[in-house]
Amino acid sequence: MCGIVAYIGHSNALPVLMDGLRRLEYRGYDSAGVAIFDGGQIHLRKSVGRIANLAEEIERNPVSGSIGISHTRWATHGAVTRENAHPHTDKSGRLHLVHNGVIENYQILRDQLIERGHVFHSQTDTEVLAHLVGEAFDRATSRNVASLVEALRQALRQVVGTYGISVVHADVADVIIGARRGSPLVLGIGKNEHFLASDVSAIVAYTRDVVYLNDYEIIALQAEGFEITTVSGNGADYQVSKVEYSADSVDKGHYPHYMLKEIHEQPNSVRDALRGRLCLEEATAKLGGLNMSNADLRSVDRIVLVGCGTAFHAALAGEYLIESLAHIPVECEFASEFRYRNIPLDRDTLVFVVSQSGETADTLAALRESQRKGHRTLGICNNVASTIARESDGGVYMHAGPEIGVAATKSFTSQLTIFALLGLLLGRIRHLSHGEGLEIIASMEKLPDLVARTLLLDAQIAAIAKKYAHSKSFLFMGRQAQFPIALEGALKLKEISYISSSGYPSAELKHGVIALITEEAPSIFIAPRDAVFEKNISNIEEVKARKGPVIAIGTEGDTALAKICDDVILIPDCPHYLTPILSVIPLQLLSYHIAVELGCDVDKPRNLAKSVTVE
Ligand code: G6P
Repeated sequence: MCGIVAYIGHSNALPVLMDGLRRLEYRGYDSAGVAIFDGGQIHLRKSVGRIANLAEEIERNPVSGSIGISHTRWATHGAVTRENAHPHTDKSGRLHLVHNGVIENYQILRDQLIERGHVFHSQTDTEVLAHLVGEAFDRATSRNVASLVEALRQALRQVVGTYGISVVHADVADVIIGARRGSPLVLGIGKNEHFLASDVSAIVAYTRDVVYLNDYEIIALQAEGFEITTVSGNGADYQVSKVEYSADSVDKGHYPHYMLKEIHEQPNSVRDALRGRLCLEEATAKLGGLNMSNADLRSVDRIVLVGCGTAFHAALAGEYLIESLAHIPVECEFASEFRYRNIPLDRDTLVFVVSQSGETADTLAALRESQRKGHRTLGICNNVASTIARESDGGVYMHAGPEIGVAATKSFTSQLTIFALLGLLLGRIRHLSHGEGLEIIASMEKLPDLVARTLLLDAQIAAIAKKYAHSKSFLFMGRQAQFPIALEGALKLKEISYISSSGYPSAELKHGVIALITEEAPSIFIAPRDAVFEKNISNIEEVKARKGPVIAIGTEGDTALAKICDDVILIPDCPHYLTPILSVIPLQLLSYHIAVELGCDVDKPRNLAKSVTVE
């Protein structure tokens, strides 16, 4: 992960870089740095901790200039120290480089460089890159843009791994060079100014005209223009795209945190996931992006869903949704396992990779592995410009809008909505009648309003959060499609409040988990009025018999839960296959309010990053 922002133009680079870094802080936030060219030399400022610390450092020690590169780090190689923060310099101290990704053969390269007299000041893999580029450039006979680009090419041909990089050199100070392989990089085109960033959100306030770089491309940016070539030395075609969203949509608005804003955006994000995809006439869903005819879809006899983190939990809930609506066997795989597992896939298996960012390294590798085996592999992504969106054989976009809070919320409910659409589409090609299709559509159309009604529980949930915030551990339990929701509730809580929490199928309680029940360890049961409601009640009784506090998520109108549970949150009634889209919302709000109560940094939890672009 890590975030990169670079600027070249005629304005002061610093405010652009600092603003961009703040917007990219979700990608990593353990240290940060800038290198600014002031017309004479390049000045470096670095600091451990958040961007605010870097801002303080610059206030104490000001810099200004119209060319600069910057970085916010999420440590992979080397501890969180000032020395390991980017930018890194070469042997001459005149080249500065920032990097997102992992150089896998850095140790060998580093040893070779040390033998050649290079001295290293950090433990990072990145510093190797800086030395390699600097060394190649110092061998060049001329000192101009072309020779700097060529030096970068020579360096990149030696490295194994992933990179999004940006380089400035004091000897060729009218250019910034960038390159990508496996880590995203986007060019922003302004008037007599250009930008380079890991994500458009860093530059959308300045321009909406962008070029998404492809793997193995190198870009040379100057104030008045840019040139894109490849690592192998060829020219590259590019396409200028318009960013659809504005800078406002990546602001917090009146919310104290992105996470809360994104939780409350769910009526709209669910509506946007459904928009234009329900076809009353044929009583089915239309998902044109799959690039598959009904005949193609008819022959699918198995589906494999692949993802990481919250996207994996969405896949697990998707398994229930698709199996109950379409009766097609579904399997879920962690992307990190799928890529190395060599899972047997037959011809009629359809693989979906699920990823909000579309950049998660393991999920991307899973996509490529599946495609390498000749499988049609589809993507379910939010970021339409992402690598997964571009490399998959088709898919479904979430249209959830930017998700900035590190803890995924609205992307999860959008993913579930898409699985419901898929279930409907595949079911209608098989056993579902026109009438049944219409009933499902009617229920799905009501979803955005039901999500809005669920959000009205916010104040009640905040009060419950206050009551339990100081508990040392939580258990989350649910049956059937609510089991993945229990996993997701536990993940939300641990990632933002650092409270130990785990999710189980309710019936697993008696197979070990029950040993954890104490008066201090609350259990959260997701127990809507469904076919297994009574079974959940029995499990709740088992917890209560051991004096464990119980918070239950039930269905509006239910009175049974209140009789045995300590606290009850009632969500609107809807068909069982759609309930997970509602039942997860109280859990998102509960974890949010507990984290706030504990004074945690909700949008930037420790050790995490929004998009994990390293393995
Ligand atoms: C990281 C984030 C999680 C996210 C996961 C998968 O671990 O912290 O919130 O669920 O990556 O991200 P993706 O972008 O592939 O959905």
